[in-house]
Amino acid sequence: MIAFTLNGRPTTVEADPGTPLLWVLRDQLQLTGTKYGCGIAQCGACTVHLDGRAVRSCVTPVSMVSGKRVTTIEGIGETPVGRAIQRAWQEVDVPQCGYCQSGQIMAAAALLAEHPHPSEAQIVAAMDGILCRCGTYNRIRTAILEAVKGGV
Ligand code: FES
Ligand code: FES
Repeated sequence: MIAFTLNGRPTTVEADPGTPLLWVLRDQLQLTGTKYGCGIAQCGACTVHLDGRAVRSCVTPVSMVSGKRVTTIEGIGETPVGRAIQRAWQEVDVPQCGYCQSGQIMAAAALLAEHPHPSEAQIVAAMDGILCRCGTYNRIRTAILEAVKGGV
């Protein structure tokens, strides 16, 4: 049994310790907002927070989250930074197909939690590896800057 805090609530799961967190979230806990893209840490669609830091859940064994805090797209709106990001995303109307967007929002929220006034280089470093096949990169950048302007 693996026990951790998920979106602020104590959670336990029965799973092989090597099972990727992504599949535990999606298949066991029905939190399907976190997406499967590549499965090999290359696209960022599966990004969640582990103790506040962005991690790729497709390559994070569930054993690694034991005793830690996991936040997913379903819970990010409960944090002030998450709320600010979601507001900015709506104002800028960022998504196109939407598939990559939970990963984008989770990466942006981790960035602004750590750096409320990020430099251009910090934005690039945090967001660079989160791929968007629809090419929403400019709107993502605009939304991050809007969230910063509005105060996070
Ligand atoms: S599905 Fe995890 S990085 Fe692509
Ligand atoms: S909005 Fe379609 S992949 Fe990013």
